Amino acid sequence: MRGQFITFEGTEGVGKSTQLANAAKTLENLGVNVLVTREPGGTPMAEAIRDLLLATRDEPVNEITELLLMFAARAQHLHTRILPALDRGQWVLCDRFTDATFAYQGGGRGVPEQRIALLETLVQGDIRPDHVILLDAPVDTGMERARRRGALDRFEQEHRDFFQKIRDTYLARAAAQPEKYCVIDAARPLDQVTEQIERLFCQWASRSGAL
Ligand code: TMP
Repeated sequence: MRGQFITFEGTEGVGKSTQLANAAKTLENLGVNVLVTREPGGTPMAEAIRDLLLATRDEPVNEITELLLMFAARAQHLHTRILPALDRGQWVLCDRFTDATFAYQGGGRGVPEQRIALLETLVQGDIRPDHVILLDAPVDTGMERARRRGALDRFEQEHRDFFQKIRDTYLARAAAQPEKYCVIDAARPLDQVTEQIERLFCQWASRSGAL
């Protein structure tokens, strides 16, 4: 049986990585075989593209360069790692995927949605996540948490408006497809967020027949 493809999304500092690791543990405890991965990245070549994308540099980065690099990394990751895992029956939990491109390069940088959609079709055909967990919190809360983590990468150094547009784009995408997106209020205490996500994963695992 093909595995489920589940992505975690949100603006900076909303706790995606913590929640993803916890969800993977929940699934493993239920006996589900899980692959945890991330974008941009997830293979040696795609991780090298990630380093290119996140490095702070003096040269201004053109938004189409940034967009193409995101999809170049994604093509490599999707076709060499994600799809083979799903075909083996593993569940793939991915820290960000194409929703991040619509939110960051679309909402944040202003690249028209149709251009992103063209690349989405080119790289992915009709492959889309089965579920998207959107961790949502006010921009200031997340930026403060990201700042406390230490040195900021090229994206984290952006101004507040950039992240507000990203949050708005994520929420608009979730509102347009409520059956696919689970919007989680990530401004609540950590144990409440964790518990809500654990419950979701238990439901999905029992519904999918994986148990
Ligand atoms: P991370 O910090 O969540 O690992 O993600 C790295 C950065 O890359 C983050 O600031 C969001 C950004 N990003 C995009 O701008 N577009 C994308 O398609 C992806 C996957 C990430």
